[in-house]
Amino acid sequence: MKIIRAKDYYDMSRKAANIISAQIIMKPDCVIGLATGSTPIGTYDQLVEWYKKGDLDFAQVTTINLDEYRGVTKDDPHSYYYFMRDKLFSKVNIDPTRTHIPDGMDEDAEHACRSYDEIIKRCGGIDLQLLGLGHNGHIGFNEPGTAFEAQTHLVNLTETTKKANQRFFENEENVPSQAYTMGIKSIMQAKKIVVVVSGQDKAEALRAAVKGAITPNVQASVLQLHNDVTIVADVEACSLLED
Ligand code: F6R
Repeated sequence: MKIIRAKDYYDMSRKAANIISAQIIMKPDCVIGLATGSTPIGTYDQLVEWYKKGDLDFAQVTTINLDEYRGVTKDDPHSYYYFMRDKLFSKVNIDPTRTHIPDGMDEDAEHACRSYDEIIKRCGGIDLQLLGLGHNGHIGFNEPGTAFEAQTHLVNLTETTKKANQRFFENEENVPSQAYTMGIKSIMQAKKIVVVVSGQDKAEALRAAVKGAITPNVQASVLQLHNDVTIVADVEACSLLED
């Protein structure tokens, strides 16, 4: 694992965007796995800025998002579909037919999950997967205890995750209790993984992921077994990594 220590959130965002941008320049028709949440917003802002300057071209890029809430429509501002359109897709020249997010409105969980695995397979796998890190060590919505072999599946979100995501909703009751998420197996099959981590409140999760035992109780700890992981974390998030 390579750890890049960034000065602050802005620096972290620029460094992560640089890695993604290099991937797109080196392979214009690459497949990029994307995350939602607060942490990657600055990275997306930076990519949009470089696109507007003419330095980046998304025309041939394919994207596969990690997850989506179950039962939330695409037009709902809380949906990850809406988030991605708002933060990135509507601001760059990406072909909407090349963007993929699990179908949160598919009530048939088995169908929703197998279809998404098919899409990942059809895209030929992921060249670069961008990840955020949950306070409980989750990546995607792979909650503690999930088998590392899992593919796309339906998740009952933990109370910790619901609390952490409450800030995007009016109150905790409105936070959906289920989501579809890409499994650890697909994440681990990505050729390259970039994790963005920011803030003191993520320091313990980052320490456990990087220095702790490899265990399903800390889903991100599986990344220790991948041969091309770059963690871009700000000083606060790195504060418990020193020996
Ligand atoms: C989002 C996702 C989650 C988040 C994680 C951190 O697509 O997969 O794993 O990356 O919950 O979220 P933030 O960045 O909001 O702290």
